[in-house]
Amino acid sequence: MSGGFLVTGGCGFIGTNLVRLLLARFPEEEVWNLDLLTYAGSGGNLDDLAAEPRYRFVRGDVSDLRRPGDLHPRLAAGGFRAVLHLAAESHVDRSLFDAAAFLHTNVEGTRVMLEGAREAGVRLYVQVSTDEVYGSLGPTGAFTEESPLKPSSPYSASKAAADLLALSYHRTFGQDVVVTRCSNNYGPYQFPEKLIPLMISRALADEPLPVYGDGRNIRDWIHVEDHCTGIVLALERGVAGRVYNLGGDAERENLAVVCQLLAELGKPESLIRFVADRPGHDRRYAMDARRARAELGFSPRYRFELGLARTIQWYVEHEAWSRRVRDGSYRRYLEDTYRSRLEAAAPCAV
Ligand code: NAD
Ligand code: TYD
Repeated sequence: MSGGFLVTGGCGFIGTNLVRLLLARFPEEEVWNLDLLTYAGSGGNLDDLAAEPRYRFVRGDVSDLRRPGDLHPRLAAGGFRAVLHLAAESHVDRSLFDAAAFLHTNVEGTRVMLEGAREAGVRLYVQVSTDEVYGSLGPTGAFTEESPLKPSSPYSASKAAADLLALSYHRTFGQDVVVTRCSNNYGPYQFPEKLIPLMISRALADEPLPVYGDGRNIRDWIHVEDHCTGIVLALERGVAGRVYNLGGDAERENLAVVCQLLAELGKPESLIRFVADRPGHDRRYAMDARRARAELGFSPRYRFELGLARTIQWYVEHEAWSRRVRDGSYRRYLEDTYRSRLEAAAPCAV
C-alpha cells in the first residue's frame, strides 16, 4: 500500500462523491476521511464502504488535528501523499445568521490542515474552493484566475481567506499547494438547503418554493462528478502554487432551473413564490476554465438538462436519505430562513 490520501469533509456532498472516485481511480491507495459530522455531514453516505479495507473514517474537527485517534500518528509518519481539503461550512444563507463557525472551520481549519501537512512533509495539498471568492459579475464576461477577490458573504470571505492562506504556504514554505475554484455543484447527496435539492424536496411535498428576488440571478452549474474529476486532475497534473477555475459551461437563471425541475416532476409552477432577496445576493457567476482545460485536460461531461434529470431521479429514489437528513435542526433552519418571507410573498404567475 503506497501513500494514500487524506480527504477532509468526506461525509459532505462533494466529499462523498470524491472519496468514491479516489478509491476507484487509485486502486492501490488508502483513502482516509476526516469529518466532524456536522448537520451537513452524514456518515451514512459512505456506509457501503464499511467493508472496504482501503477506506478509513475518522471523526474529528479539522481545526484540532491532534485529537482524532490514530490520524495524527499516521499523518506525522508521512503516511499520506496528498491532503484534499474540502471540510467547510458551505451555505451562504447560514453565514448570514452566524459567521463564527465559518471563520472557525474555513479559516482556522485550513491553517491547521496546512500546518499538519507541512509538519508531516505531505508533498501535495489541494485546497477546494469556490467561484464565490470573486464576487458578482455583470451581464457579460467570466471570472478568470486573475480576477480580483471580492467576496460578498461571510461564507465567501472565509473561503477567500483560506485560499490566500493556502497560497501563502506555497510562497513562504514551499508547500505544493494547488487551489481549485469551482462553480455551483448539483448531484446526489447534496444537503437540501442548497437551491436544487431544496426545491426538489419541497416540490415533492407540494410545498411553496421560495425563489429569492426576481429569480434572474445566474449560476454556472456543474455536476458533482465533473467537479470531482477536476479535483483529481488538479491533484495529478496541477502546477504547485496555481489556481484552477472549474465550471460546468451551464449558466442558468434560477427561475429557469426551478421551472425545469417542476416540469420534470410534473408539478405546477404555481408552487413558486418570489420572496425577499438574500442580502448581498451575487447577481451572476460564470467561469473561464480555459486554464484547467489546457493544463489539466478538464472537460465537464454532463449536459445540465441530463444531469438535473438524473439528480431528480436520485432524490426520488432516495427518499429515505432525504428524510434522515431533515431532522429537527433542519426544520428549525427552514422556519428561521423562510417562514416570514413566505408569509409575506403572494403567489405569482411566472
Ligand atoms: P457540505 O456542507 O455538503 O459538506 C461539508 C462537510 O464538512 C460535512 O461533511 C461536514 O460534516 C464537514 N465539516 C464541517 N465542519 C467541519 C470541521 N470543523 N471539521 C471536520 N469536518 C467538518 O459541503 P460541500 O458542498 O460538499 O462542499 C465541500 C467543499 O467544496 C467546501 O470547501 C466548499 O466551499 C467547496 N465548494 C462547494 C461548492 C458547492 O456548490 N457545493 C462549489 C464550489 C466549492
Ligand atoms: P445556493 O444553492 O444557496 O448556492 P450559492 O448561493 O452558493 O450560489 O443558491 C443558488 C442560487 O439560488 C442563488 O442565486 C440563491 C438562489 N436561492 C433561492 O432563490 N432560493 C433559495 O431558497 C435558495 C437556497 C437559493
